[in-house]
Amino acid sequence: MQVSCPRPTAARNISISQQARSTAFVRPVPPWSRLAAFSAEASRLEQFQPPFQFSSFFSPEDTLLCVLAGERALAAHLGSSPGIVELTSGSGLVGFRLLSLGPSATLFGVDIDPDAESCARANAERLGYAGRARFVCMSLWDPVMEAVLRGQRTDILVCNPPYIPEPPEAGLPVEAGAGADGSAHLRRVTALAYATQPETLVLSWCSLCDPAGVVGDVEDAGYQLDELFVVLIADGEYSGSVHNYLLTLPTAFLNSSHETLRVVAPDGAARFGYLLMSGCFSRTATTSHDGREAMRSLCTSFRDQGASALEGFRSSIEGRIWLLDRWDEITLRAILHGPIAAPVYTVSP
Ligand SMILES: C[S@@+](CC[C@H](N)C(=O)[O-])C[C@H]1O[C@@H](n2cnc3c(N)ncnc32)[C@H](O)[C@@H]1O
Repeated sequence: MQVSCPRPTAARNISISQQARSTAFVRPVPPWSRLAAFSAEASRLEQFQPPFQFSSFFSPEDTLLCVLAGERALAAHLGSSPGIVELTSGSGLVGFRLLSLGPSATLFGVDIDPDAESCARANAERLGYAGRARFVCMSLWDPVMEAVLRGQRTDILVCNPPYIPEPPEAGLPVEAGAGADGSAHLRRVTALAYATQPETLVLSWCSLCDPAGVVGDVEDAGYQLDELFVVLIADGEYSGSVHNYLLTLPTAFLNSSHETLRVVAPDGAARFGYLLMSGCFSRTATTSHDGREAMRSLCTSFRDQGASALEGFRSSIEGRIWLLDRWDEITLRAILHGPIAAPVYTVSP
């Protein structure tokens, strides 16, 4: 966008050209250099620019994080024609990304939002996946959900669910809230995985929703955490709106130190930082709790020491940790809008 401002004292003729110009977004401050920038992974989103549509509750950061865990899962199935089932599929983006990498994979998506179902179907048509992708509108808690899953080929079960803890007296919108400790959908998906035994499980969750309990439950259901993906981020629309409630929950891990706030929000507009996470799990005959221990160690270190605890964090689980600060959050959203068109203002002398 080019803007030249008129001097305040003199009247000028201002002409506005509606000609579209591509605008480069420039960060006003450099990112914290001690963690890799999550925006470096964003090229995966470029195939989802308009006319691709998003359903009403979509956020690029947790969806991209789920994509990374999904790619790790798909790599283990590439010799076959894997059946992918995506629960809480929204726009279908995670599944479509996997279809683009697995030419013989198929996708079955489930979401409670009827608009998400039609949005995902339209996206499948536009991307040329209509022959390999089906979507239904259904709740995870529908009594026939388990039977529906048993009727699908499910090699990889994916879920990027809501996971914000909901204060009992003030519920969040259905797309965002996930019960008193934020783990309701995650525990339901774990129970469905236990019942239907897919080979691979891909989940996303966060440090606010009983992370050690959630991962421990998945391990108890017969899965091991193969790889963990973590992003440090500032509070958002929903997580920020329940800040006081989060402070009462022993299972919610956040950090509000001066250093963390400066790292996640150099613009000064954050109340706390927390961790978004995703993981790739595989079915195993031996029960281990390495994932639960990794969660406990990571989340308590972060709660007690803030951003600097993440640099050089080590555990027995393979993993990667990135930073997504406020400016890079904007970058992710800008990528999904495609080239930004803006009117160009010029002032005649
Ligand atoms: C974090 S969003 C997932 C976004 C998705 N990755 C995308 O690309 O749009 C969570 C989704 O869970 C869905 N959802 C919420 N409660 C549900 C339930 N009980 N059963 C099925 N889907 C549900 C919402 O409608 C929303 O689309």
